[in-house]
Amino acid sequence: MERSWTADRLREAYLSFFASKGHVVISGASLIPENDPTVLFTTAGMHPLVPYLLGEPHPAGKRLTNVQKCVRTGDIESVGDTAHLTFFEMLGNWSLGDYFKQEAIEWSYEFLTSSRYLGLSPDQLHVTVFAGEPGIPCDAEAARIWRSLGIPDDRIYWLPREDNWWGPAGQTGPCGPDTEMFIDTGKTACSPRCGPGCHCGKFVEIWNDVFMQYNKTLDGAYEPLRQHNVDTGMGVERTLAMLQGVSSVFETELFKPLMDRIRELTTAVPADPNQAERAARIIADHMRSAVFILGDPKGAVKPGNVGANYVLRRLIRRAVRYARMLGFPFGFGLKLVEVILPIYRKPYPELEENRVRIVEELNAEEERFEKTLAEGQKELSKLLATLQAHQQTVLPGRKAFQMYDTYGFPLEFTEEICAEQGIRVDRAGFEEAFRKHQEISKQGGQSFKGGLADHSEAVTRLHTATHLLHKALQIVLGSHVQQKGSNITPERLRFDFSHPEKLTPEQLAAVEQIVNDAIKRDLPVRCETMTLEEAKARGATALFNAKYGEQVKVYSVGDFSAEVCGGPHAGRTGELGRFRIMKEESSSAGVRRIRAVLEPSDDRTLTER
Ligand code: SER
Repeated sequence: MERSWTADRLREAYLSFFASKGHVVISGASLIPENDPTVLFTTAGMHPLVPYLLGEPHPAGKRLTNVQKCVRTGDIESVGDTAHLTFFEMLGNWSLGDYFKQEAIEWSYEFLTSSRYLGLSPDQLHVTVFAGEPGIPCDAEAARIWRSLGIPDDRIYWLPREDNWWGPAGQTGPCGPDTEMFIDTGKTACSPRCGPGCHCGKFVEIWNDVFMQYNKTLDGAYEPLRQHNVDTGMGVERTLAMLQGVSSVFETELFKPLMDRIRELTTAVPADPNQAERAARIIADHMRSAVFILGDPKGAVKPGNVGANYVLRRLIRRAVRYARMLGFPFGFGLKLVEVILPIYRKPYPELEENRVRIVEELNAEEERFEKTLAEGQKELSKLLATLQAHQQTVLPGRKAFQMYDTYGFPLEFTEEICAEQGIRVDRAGFEEAFRKHQEISKQGGQSFKGGLADHSEAVTRLHTATHLLHKALQIVLGSHVQQKGSNITPERLRFDFSHPEKLTPEQLAAVEQIVNDAIKRDLPVRCETMTLEEAKARGATALFNAKYGEQVKVYSVGDFSAEVCGGPHAGRTGELGRFRIMKEESSSAGVRRIRAVLEPSDDRTLTER
């Protein structure tokens, strides 16, 4: 029987399959990582689960499954082909020290081929396994399991680390060999060596089972993990395209209305149809990512020049540049938001809830960029003409920096325009100029001093301070105060909360005092697991991403505060030092922002911190 697949059906099928294998369905996390300086966005379903992969017990148990929103911009240059995206949804199942390779591979095979689930022909399935390297053996066990399921040796490919090793997401963390599943689309092979790992489009990767057996430490060593984990990820968009038999993700219902709207808005059609299609896909992809980032319940990322803000700026500006190429009118963001939101109304209601913020930020960024775009392009054309007249092929780094600083051209953007003319940008020179500028202006990039252990300790203490701050604000200003965003670096915390007006100096002093009193009382921080309803009944503040009935962790600080939260936290408030508010300002309408730091308290020496 011909089954018509939709994204909704695919998500449901996946979750119910793994629920039938004893997995608990948990909520996806925010796109903006909580208290984790190692990544700018949630890049995979495993990311929010890192503490549990390292051994902390998860409140929902050892077998978990969910759908996770992800942003990855490492492959941004490839967007425009049939499958690469900067935002995507990932279906995942996890074993936290429970089952390992045997069950993981068997269940992947069953979900892919069973007629009750995806019903793919086993003959279409090609798999890759880790080939090994000095010090780490090849994954013979994974290959043996695939063979036992009937996959012949000529469809099992042994590939090196670049292809078949996962993680860690940051510099350190859990990692291990993986086995990836590819579907043969039936296209003609591009060469006799064509196979999974080749980028011609014949083989589409849809699923990755990672076997986490190691932890990468700061000195680059791989130490065996105390528990063996499984982390799998299946891309919704790609799998859907394959199930629907369409040739690109842009033809699925997740993109179709958006692509149609983009075609309606196109008034300048490039002569080369491939160029027009690529531009349309880039606009669709980047605007969708921007909408998800801006629509995230945490609301902490806005277009800007540093970190995640810079990534968002780059996505929007790149979309604007292609939109200009296709002759879109000014303010096109709204026209695209109108079609993106209905696509995701059911699975991601937060987008509709944050519609106003999304549209305002998109328009404001387009306007800012618009002001300098034409001038910047003129300037860059002049620079390129001069270089070409002198038969030079490299744009000096300080010129690229000038484009960034004066015209708001992200570096990658300047690189792209240069590449179209066969010119390379001196990246090292750009970075040098950027660094000097940072030193001079003493702002921008976060300075990472010391090792990661120091970072995470500092981040952990600031995280506990954030809970104290939240409660103190409620005490001083009233119970209407609600967290709207939180961002922590090793140096400071930043906390956004709902409140209609500027805080007075007296209010700020009172908040500081209450937090410091709680610190002085050296309260213990306790973690308990309960259902969301139990947590609420106990008066715990519950913010994002939990469903009713779901098991959650509640962190309480003595009798002072209780919040549903993933942790980690300091053991006692006495470890925090002295709390100081550095700045209070407006974040957006009805939302205030506080930046604060922890300083060594008088009875601790500087070297201790
Ligand atoms: N972490 C792996 C990936 O993202 C599997 O989930 O591919």
